[in-house]
Amino acid sequence: MAGAAGQQQWSSRWTFLLAAVGSAVGLGNIWKFPFEAGQGGGGAFVLVYLAFVFAVGLPVLMAELSLGRRGKMSPIGTMEKIAKEEGRSKAWSIIGWSGVVGGFIVISFYAVVGGWVLAYIVKAFSGFAGFDAAISTDTFVAYISDPVWPVVSQFAFIAITIGIVMRGVKGGLEKAVTYLMPALFALLLGLVIYSAINGAFAETLTFLFSPDFSKLTLDTVLNALGLAFFSLSLALGSIMTYGAYLTKDINIPRAAIAISLADSAVALMAGLAIFPIVFKYGLDPAGGGGLVFTTLPIAFGQMTGGIIVGVLFFFLLAVAAVTSAISLLEPAVSYVSERLGADRKKVTLYLGLAAFLLGTLSAWSQGGNILSDVKILGADIMGVKDYLTNNIMMPLGGMFIALFVGWFVSRKNMMEELAMEESTFRIWYFLVRFVCPTAIGAVFVSILYNTIVG
Ligand code: TRP
Repeated sequence: MAGAAGQQQWSSRWTFLLAAVGSAVGLGNIWKFPFEAGQGGGGAFVLVYLAFVFAVGLPVLMAELSLGRRGKMSPIGTMEKIAKEEGRSKAWSIIGWSGVVGGFIVISFYAVVGGWVLAYIVKAFSGFAGFDAAISTDTFVAYISDPVWPVVSQFAFIAITIGIVMRGVKGGLEKAVTYLMPALFALLLGLVIYSAINGAFAETLTFLFSPDFSKLTLDTVLNALGLAFFSLSLALGSIMTYGAYLTKDINIPRAAIAISLADSAVALMAGLAIFPIVFKYGLDPAGGGGLVFTTLPIAFGQMTGGIIVGVLFFFLLAVAAVTSAISLLEPAVSYVSERLGADRKKVTLYLGLAAFLLGTLSAWSQGGNILSDVKILGADIMGVKDYLTNNIMMPLGGMFIALFVGWFVSRKNMMEELAMEESTFRIWYFLVRFVCPTAIGAVFVSILYNTIVG
């Protein structure tokens, strides 16, 4: 598996789809979506998120897969190559750069949360008997406030990720996703049913699906946009790199639709599993990043077979997180091995360790940990990395990808990659040329306006 991105290929259509879904479905859906929906006030946020997934995310997803398959290199190499082919400025490679660097920043906090999940697998073995809202919250805060263990668990998470990326996409990744992703889906469905029977389900349905637009602020709209990109793995090179391993026979639009549907379904299922417990036990829906770790253990503590279900849930969540983390590390690995011609294994190891070191700062910024008092513009270190990538780099990256394929790559070449009927192609073309840039641009301009004038 040494060398440039173009030398690897998926072994079948099915494994590609699973890997792409594996990249998309992760902590973004199960950890981030519920707590951001909770903070964003519920229904209106969910609706805006879904609109962004399908009107902005899906067309950009198709664009990224097409660019990746056309370029067959790392995101930076691919952008340089296609810009050159189309007679455009080399400056477009900045999309690739922002992706490689952004992916690196994301993994340096993603792995911290991944580590929390690993720690909860261990906790789940002794069960959560007697957990109520207070005990559950204390247990979580105590864990993330410890100076040592969150760093250790982050390290374990990165080590697993490094191990899989070293083996290349076939050896490690395909096996992990073939059985475990469907298993996660099934377990989540089971949890939704459990929560529907035992939790405050009616309240949850109202909260998640009857939008109260007075709760929507510009910032929540930007959060929803960022989350749509985050949960679909867009604009940071992940999907472009996976596109580079695609063979010609794969129908990109169909794959992209399947990925978006699976991705938003998992997010909604996570919401439906978690909020009934939130409301039943009087937890705060806007409580933030601890939500999944404080709510589900209460349910596991009460159900029969809760130990097995709890262990299984955190194990499968860890798998989903690892299959996403792989796709965050892969763009940087493919770029460095392409540029330096260096050994893929070594590159993975060094980049992974660098991400770990940067990640310890995120780990220590949480709860009452040693760097939790360090605030930059009101946010802790992890919050800053999250805001920078989620709310700035991803939407802007997505906007430039849409502008690039919409206005700077020839229509004929895009048509060839996407292989759609003229009539459906026209819809996509309209979305990437006008809707995506305007929607993203409008959110940005309004926020800018608000910060300056308001
Ligand atoms: N989509 C993943 C999740 O929901 C995270 C992720 C993987 C990601 N690759 C990405 C996010 C690229 C942004 C960009 O957990």
